Amino acid sequence: MTGSLIGAPLDRVDGHAKVTGAARYAADVPAADPLHAVIVQATIARGTITDVDETAARAVPGVVEVLTYRNAPRVPAFPFEFALPFCEELAPLQDATVHYHGQHVALVLGETFEAAREGAALLRISYAPAPAEIDLDTAHTVTNPDHFFGSAMQYRRGEPERAFDASAVRIDATYTTPLENHNPMEPSATLAEWHGNELLVHDSTQWVMGTQACYAKAFALDATQVRVLAPYIGGGFGCKGFVWAHQTLAAMAAKATGRPVKLVLTREQMFTSVGHRGLTRQRVRLGASRDGVLQATLHDVTSVTSRVGASFFEPSVIATAMLYGAPAVALTTRVAQLDVPSPTAMRAPGEAPGTFALGSALDEVAYACGLDPLDVLRRNETATDLEVGLPFSSRNVLACYDRGAEAFGWDRRSHAPRSMRDGRELIGWGVATATYPAMRSNGEARVTITPDGTIDVASATHDLGTGMYTVLTQIAADALGADPRAIRVRIGDSSLPLAPVAGGSMSTASVGPAVLDAATRARAEAITIATSSGASPLHGLHADEVEVVAGVLRAKADPTRAIGYGAVVQLGGSGAIEVHAHAAPGDEGERYSFHSFGAQFVEVRFDEEIARLRVTRALGVFDCGRIMNRKTARSQMLGGITFGLGMALLEETVRDERYGAVVTNNLADYHLPVNADVPPIEVLFVEEPDLRFNPLGARGVGEIGITGVAAAIANAVYHATGVRVRDLPIVPEKLLTPALAAV
Ligand code: MOS
Repeated sequence: MTGSLIGAPLDRVDGHAKVTGAARYAADVPAADPLHAVIVQATIARGTITDVDETAARAVPGVVEVLTYRNAPRVPAFPFEFALPFCEELAPLQDATVHYHGQHVALVLGETFEAAREGAALLRISYAPAPAEIDLDTAHTVTNPDHFFGSAMQYRRGEPERAFDASAVRIDATYTTPLENHNPMEPSATLAEWHGNELLVHDSTQWVMGTQACYAKAFALDATQVRVLAPYIGGGFGCKGFVWAHQTLAAMAAKATGRPVKLVLTREQMFTSVGHRGLTRQRVRLGASRDGVLQATLHDVTSVTSRVGASFFEPSVIATAMLYGAPAVALTTRVAQLDVPSPTAMRAPGEAPGTFALGSALDEVAYACGLDPLDVLRRNETATDLEVGLPFSSRNVLACYDRGAEAFGWDRRSHAPRSMRDGRELIGWGVATATYPAMRSNGEARVTITPDGTIDVASATHDLGTGMYTVLTQIAADALGADPRAIRVRIGDSSLPLAPVAGGSMSTASVGPAVLDAATRARAEAITIATSSGASPLHGLHADEVEVVAGVLRAKADPTRAIGYGAVVQLGGSGAIEVHAHAAPGDEGERYSFHSFGAQFVEVRFDEEIARLRVTRALGVFDCGRIMNRKTARSQMLGGITFGLGMALLEETVRDERYGAVVTNNLADYHLPVNADVPPIEVLFVEEPDLRFNPLGARGVGEIGITGVAAAIANAVYHATGVRVRDLPIVPEKLLTPALAAV
């Protein structure tokens, strides 16, 4: 890397296509003579379909087919082992059994969306309901999983119970977070079309290769017979990371009818069809010395999963043993199985609710000790990840606290609750630690320099609004010495070189090194051709006597001796310079623990007279290694902090207690932050490249943005009002003092 473009706040290279509407999302893609599919969902929580009356549905003009378990193509139960923990094992429309309210039980296909929708409304399905378990408190089956993807869910170090009992300051509190849904702007959509034995799918997926693998197994195809395209994705936050029944259904319907099938989930269906964040109950016991140093941490989490073969649960203890230096720690995880749809990964699964509980409890320790909450965070710093017994590769959380405190003006904070006021409004300032692991998977890329000087960069990775197009452009342009405008990035296509799921905030860290390697080698190859070809103005020079500036190779000593990349390719005579690179993590994980960190500072204001709570300022400082693009990285954090604001104050999916039906299944009843809710947000980065992690030094950004936000807000609310809310979301009625509630 020469470095000049790395970190630069380059505008999104896909921005123009997006704002002009040229970018086609899955549902925008035209197809020849398509059918439109509308899903019908079960209206009982558990039981059996006893009858399907299709008469009225089929009588609707334009309805072409009705698929139910009686006539749908046979497909195996969910066939892809790696993805399985994140989704449902259940294959759609294979039998009459209903496992949860909202399960897909029929698909109506019409010449128009309107015809299909009317047909779906007229389909009569009769059920024999069976007793269902919807409520965590009455669940009969509870498991105690050992691990969540390598992270211990049951864990001990030291003698935590004894250390807790012996501590001078003890906090024992239970924090709860509700069921939440991802709600990306673009609902999940699939356009499936068969060409003989080959399946082409346009899909709003965060994982084209995983989706390809699922389709291949579901329809007994070779992976090369399936192509999945997702060049643009309108957000996902985890609900498009894995494969859900509607994707299989679209391809089943296309197979059954011999026509392309377009299926778009409605907003209502998004609440039950693509996973959610399960609720959590978290008992946290912190034992500390009088000066706020943790002696014992006990974190006991209960969460939920479904009964349709999935094992996903919210792993909320995930960061607790790593984050601070307590010598004695115990973590336990219990998961109740319910007759509900499957939960899945939702932005920072585990860390988002886990840091709410832990960050709140530490604030409670600070107040019990009479100490500044930020000082308590500082006093529990550790240079070693005591959970795995390895040093952190790089950990600058103290710098995050210090820079944040200075930028926020933390030293002007007065400690006592209800001690800061502006007119009618009580003011509260809160702080909490942000954290997310740095993950990396195998990634590949192909860099091709073409005779016209255009440089093609290809990988089966994704851009769901994160900035991948732009970041890969920067990496390639920087390594090649090319103008970013000469780079054309192609991603979101399963036929391109291998890339992992766009999840775990790992895309840049996984694919970026492959692009860096391929581009570096392509540059070297071009220099070899340019210095060895007799017709080249650089003939006879040594490679290190050549530099590349704005796509032009030139002699360092005499810049008038110059030749562009395109002309070099023409000299080479092979049609293109093409380099394929594979990048993979090595054994560095045996020597270091890789995590990103940050500090979240917020200000809230509470008007007691009208019980109005607002977040009025937010500031996040993040240590994520090298930042590849300060503009898109900042945008990731703005989104994450906004997501955290929604989690803290607004978001809750409510189910009907008897049937498990989601009653907040729309964006009017499921409250999300709108512009009026979102204050000015400041984002700062501590930019220390983490070269122990990968050659880019970038640990990745994304999910860390939400972590710690809910705790910082809850802590600020306590500071403002003196009311400790341990149950999210913090709606105003939870802040009513007895006197106010009586009015
Ligand atoms: Mo993310 S929840 O890993 O898409």
